[in-house]
Amino acid sequence: MKVSIIGAGNVGSSAAWVVCDKAIADEVVLVDITEGIPQGKALDIQEAMPLSRSNVKIKGTNNYSEIKDSDVVVVTAGVPRKPGMSRDDLLETNSNIIRSIAGEIKKNAPYSVVIVVTNPLDIMSYLMLKETGFDRKKVLGMAGVLDSTRFRTFIADMLETGVNDIEAMVLGGHGDSMVPLRKHTTVKGKPITDFLDDKDVEALIDRTRNGGAEIVKHLKTGSAFYAPGASIAEMIDAILKQDDRILPCSVMLQGEYGYKDIFLGVPCRLDSKGLKDIIELDLSDEEKNQLDDSAAAVKKNVDKLR
Ligand code: APR
Repeated sequence: MKVSIIGAGNVGSSAAWVVCDKAIADEVVLVDITEGIPQGKALDIQEAMPLSRSNVKIKGTNNYSEIKDSDVVVVTAGVPRKPGMSRDDLLETNSNIIRSIAGEIKKNAPYSVVIVVTNPLDIMSYLMLKETGFDRKKVLGMAGVLDSTRFRTFIADMLETGVNDIEAMVLGGHGDSMVPLRKHTTVKGKPITDFLDDKDVEALIDRTRNGGAEIVKHLKTGSAFYAPGASIAEMIDAILKQDDRILPCSVMLQGEYGYKDIFLGVPCRLDSKGLKDIIELDLSDEEKNQLDDSAAAVKKNVDKLR
């Protein structure tokens, strides 16, 4: 199994590290526009493999022909946000980068499943799909896994319980309008509302919506990368293992949840071809309204691309 990661910056190299450390693939290729960066980081990761007891081979390169025959291509190339910026502020710069990379993927890895990570996520995923012309099943945006793991972290913290006891589902766009689902968020199988009052749940949801910004504020020079890297690895693992795992991913909707021609985070069953099917959950009226708002926010930005 071969995975290529385009963009050897903070997010790309963190993802590469998790994939290699956990031996999720057999072969990893790290690609970047900057000379030396992918080569140096790949070599550094390779040298850790005896300690990881992993036989994964990783290579760094500036040459897109090396992504040939990849099962999965992850795109993390692009600029991250700085304090005070929203993900949408990255639209112009990153859309040019995505356009050029889409051409390279189409040429060099036409049968791969593409995971887009570059922000603004739902718009860059849409652009990737349009520019590659791939089947919608083959282009997935990584956001919901990250937002859900953040939500689980904050719940575990507040309840002082283990993270493994908590299941969470965050849908919608990867922005301030994301929709953490109360009814589908459980602690030891029971709804979160059995353990926390409305005010506390609202505070956790609010912190999740601002989870990325909270880290940007601390770092000042860039955005989160360890949890995004682990979230990317989780999606790759689900694709390669084909164990029918259901993960929230941003995908092109064609009528599901009542939306069309828009990328939005929804629960997806993944397999080796990418999206296997979309799970339509029962949403409360409030959640559906929030999802409508989230869809409207994504749509507004897609219109800026045209
Ligand atoms: N081709 C390949 N690599 C590129 C290109 C390109 N056309 N343009 C930029 N890059 C590379 C840069 O050289 C850099 O190594 O993308 C990398 C980005 O790394 P960082 O600046 O560290 O950014 P990072 O924190 O990894 O975030 C990347 O992921 O989560 C999102 O919002 C985040 O959009 C941002 C992206």
